[in-house]
Amino acid sequence: MIVVHTVAELRAHLANFKRPAFVPTMGNLHEGHIALVKQAKPLGDVTVVSIFVNRLQFLPHEDFGTYPRTLEADCKKLEAAGCDVVFAPSEPELYPEPQGYRVTPPTELADILEGHFRPGFFTGVCTVVLKLFNIVQPRVAVFGAKDYQQQMVIRRMVAQLALPIEIVTGATLRADDGLALSSRNGYLSAAERAEAVQLSRTLKGMIVALQNGEHNLAAIEQHAMKTLADRGWHPDYLTVRRRHDLQPPQAEDLTHADRLVVLGAAKLGTTRLIDNIEV
Ligand code: PAF
Repeated sequence: MIVVHTVAELRAHLANFKRPAFVPTMGNLHEGHIALVKQAKPLGDVTVVSIFVNRLQFLPHEDFGTYPRTLEADCKKLEAAGCDVVFAPSEPELYPEPQGYRVTPPTELADILEGHFRPGFFTGVCTVVLKLFNIVQPRVAVFGAKDYQQQMVIRRMVAQLALPIEIVTGATLRADDGLALSSRNGYLSAAERAEAVQLSRTLKGMIVALQNGEHNLAAIEQHAMKTLADRGWHPDYLTVRRRHDLQPPQAEDLTHADRLVVLGAAKLGTTRLIDNIEV
């Protein structure tokens, strides 16, 4: 495995390959990322992982400054997973001048849910992902299902901009108690870590309500919000949406469980966690 820090080095190395398989990350890697790398590996003739904490997708009050930078440990894990190339650019390497050109995804997909609570987040994500795609020129790129809306936004960007890249979604990995693996789980205290599973449990409770024939979505969502709030969380949203466009389901969607997904985001202490489960 080689680790490169510049676009020129990366391009020189990738010139020897035809079908890079790419996993973009912000580092601080856990088993969920490693599973994406293993999924990517057979899909290309070289496996590339980028590690870059992208300032453009953080709001001023968010954790850009404190986001763990753990390059050495990440590289060990990536090497063991069979990664071939790590691209870990510095900020001036990726943004040598202020990034005036940005990719603004459509409001109806990008300004709801995560985009509502983190305005500009998906513009930051799309801008860096498009830039990374242009640098790596992958044939296939793998994104985690835990960031459900993100992988949809990227899929639409790739389709609308006619990028010759196949987007593959990797399943969410969970700890034994059901907590979705996330780099931000590392921020949790021991007590918060024990409590954190309640997010996925609450989403499962919403699914059980749907399966029991409850069609009053507002009631399901309010109950879920109250369940977490009563336990000391600060929920942003817990909601039932259509899988294909993340809009609220219509009556006819409710009789087709395979059209639905439940998604949630909530703060536990100072840590904001997200999760989702397809119904
Ligand atoms: O999911 C992430 O880690 C980031 O949003 C991504 C896709 C690497 C872009 O910075």
